[in-house]
Amino acid sequence: MTTPTLDRDRLRELFDLRSSYNELSGGAYQDDPYPLWHRLRERGPILPGTLHELTGCTEPMYFHGLPFPDRPHFTLFDYDTCFAAHRNPEVFASSPTPVDLDNGPLTITNSMLSMDGARHRRYRALVQPSFLSSNGGWWTDNWISETVNLLIDGFVEDGRAELNVDFCAAIPILTITGSFGVPIEQALEVRAALSIDPQKVVDILRPIIAARRAAPKDDLISVLVQAELVDEDGATTRLTDREIDSFVLLLLGAGSGTTWKQMGTTLTALLQRPEVLDAVRHDRSWLRPAIEESVRWMPTDPMFSRWVVSDTELGGVALPAGSVVHMNLGAANRDPARWDRPDEFDITRPIRPNLGFGQGSHICLGMHVARAEMAVAISALLDRLPNLRLDPDAEPPRFVGMYERGATSIPVLFDPA
Ligand code: HEM
Repeated sequence: MTTPTLDRDRLRELFDLRSSYNELSGGAYQDDPYPLWHRLRERGPILPGTLHELTGCTEPMYFHGLPFPDRPHFTLFDYDTCFAAHRNPEVFASSPTPVDLDNGPLTITNSMLSMDGARHRRYRALVQPSFLSSNGGWWTDNWISETVNLLIDGFVEDGRAELNVDFCAAIPILTITGSFGVPIEQALEVRAALSIDPQKVVDILRPIIAARRAAPKDDLISVLVQAELVDEDGATTRLTDREIDSFVLLLLGAGSGTTWKQMGTTLTALLQRPEVLDAVRHDRSWLRPAIEESVRWMPTDPMFSRWVVSDTELGGVALPAGSVVHMNLGAANRDPARWDRPDEFDITRPIRPNLGFGQGSHICLGMHVARAEMAVAISALLDRLPNLRLDPDAEPPRFVGMYERGATSIPVLFDPA
């Protein structure tokens, strides 16, 4: 058997930060928005306008809930109103129009992400068991550990590495494509096609779907081809190829860039605080609190939206039917009413649920996989790269991006193997 290899140049090209921090979702944003978001929260929990406009960005942006120029927009800045909107899908819907899987576009949003109520529950129930925390070992043993160690093998002898692209970016995409049964050599093709040519992703996956229908294996596509969807009358059907495509595109879109950037943020926060990194190095039980604190302190996607179905009131503000509300999870996660010293990255703080993975019926399906990827990856770096530290002569990592935030680059030194 040959050892799988990764084309590192192709990896760097695909995850080039200039292309991956998408301009349309505010990739050019260079500042720290949190001081301003605190000041905006002080004006009230809900303010009229989109988050990027309120943050001073004038160019139009496209993200969940944007642009919809003909609708009134409101942004939620505190924990309580963000929590309440998440928990009330009857009034705060996930989409302005019903999802059309048969004829709608091949997009991440034309999927269960934009469904609500019984239809959303039926689809989500099909994949939920594979994503439970108790199933973390399935992901780690089958795909995460191998991917992580393969990547470290690529630089362990060099004494230096750039961890954001050569490590963090690659792990989530290889984990998900691995769970689909896509060979590692083709994984980067899937990544390249994802945002520009989703039909190509479908074309790569369809033969795997057909093969698993004929002979299921122990992977996620096999779970999907064997799943039984129960309709309103209790009748069961197998998923169509098109329904499976929608899961594939959703999981690739929701699970790759997010975990990459959150892993980079977690690593950066630790590397910038050598005493905290040391604590984690010597006692790995601090790793989980460090990951939870990173998701609270700087969630990679700090904003998700909902469409107001009927006139309502929230946080003392009247919200007319048809408006779009943008839940600023970043600001909610630093609400001083819920967390002391909210701007500090403090892994010893008592863990209270935060909104970085969302809340309610759409709470991140992949959150336990993301946690497992981050924990396995950071632990392996600490095990295999002695004296891991930021390169003092390189440009230090900075956090950038508006709706997809992450580190610029993470140059490190270590004692070579
Ligand atoms: C640290 C990394 C991640 C973060 C911060 C994150 C964040 C989120 C958030 C905030 C939502 C809620 C969206 C909403 O309410 O409209 C969500 C939903 C979702 N996430 Fe994640 N996510 C991450 C990783 C992953 C991974 C690894 C996967 C899959 C392998 C994944 C799959 C999904 C799916 C399928 C949904 C939609 C769930 C539904 O509609 O019921 N995510 N994620």
